[in-house]
Amino acid sequence: MRVLTIIPTYNELESLPKTLQRLRTAVPASDVLVVDDNSPDGTGQLADSIAAGDSQVHVLHRKGKEGLGAAYIAGFTWGLEAGYEVLVEMDADGSHQPEQLPQLLGAVEQGADLAMGSRWVPGGKVVNWPLYRQAISRVGSTYARLMLGLNIKDVTGGYRAFRRTTLEKLNLDQVDSVGYGFQVDLAWRVARMGLRIEERPITFVERELGASKMSGNIVVEAMVNVTRWGLAARWNTLARRFQGAKR
Ligand code: GDD
Ligand code: MN
Repeated sequence: MRVLTIIPTYNELESLPKTLQRLRTAVPASDVLVVDDNSPDGTGQLADSIAAGDSQVHVLHRKGKEGLGAAYIAGFTWGLEAGYEVLVEMDADGSHQPEQLPQLLGAVEQGADLAMGSRWVPGGKVVNWPLYRQAISRVGSTYARLMLGLNIKDVTGGYRAFRRTTLEKLNLDQVDSVGYGFQVDLAWRVARMGLRIEERPITFVERELGASKMSGNIVVEAMVNVTRWGLAARWNTLARRFQGAKR
């Protein structure tokens, strides 16, 4: 399978080289696409210099910071055009360990349409996260799971492997969520299409260098959207039942 690992970056100068090096060692067959939003710290130029010495590393430069979701959509579009069969989402900061990628790729090879790295299934772990962040993630995931009727334990997780056909079926140009909400949005779209989603345990290691780009706003956006989507889905089900009863 031709695999492309997409790594979005915004000010990841300190983290990116190590992550790229680990990825190229752990899964040498995977090509890499760094999607940089014109990071002020020069991450984009650094990625260019690494790409100049490694024909499997590519860089997509975007004009400015437009959010994780927009960066991934640009990366997916690039990868689909280039003909890759599996497209992977991976953070630049080392939270998603490249050494665990084979488990996700294995799940896709065995038939999953989307393989998700999961902190909240047996065997999954989080390292260096304060209790309150673990609580937010668990509560948020549970809320989204109940609200949307999803059978996924780690709905906001961002370490994923998509089969190409899965992305082709999604209307990527209609997705406009940012941050955590983007991850929930994609998972929900895939689930609604009745495609096969598999979770695999991962150890999520909080970054040691640089700062998180996620903000309170992004958490709020995710919660508001999940509530809206969940209510709309319930409303549609009710309306369909009502119309069925009339006939
Ligand atoms: N190009 C681009 N543009 N990259 C971005 C942007 C952006 O606007 N915002 C964030 N990134 C990149 C970061 O540089 C990093 O590589 C990755 O996206 C994740 O950002 P972090 O800031 O490290 O996120 P986090 O650690 O708080 O969140 C992680 O966990 C969430 C909860 O599971 C990520 O894995 C999220 O995807 C996940 O939803
Ligand atoms: Mn991070």
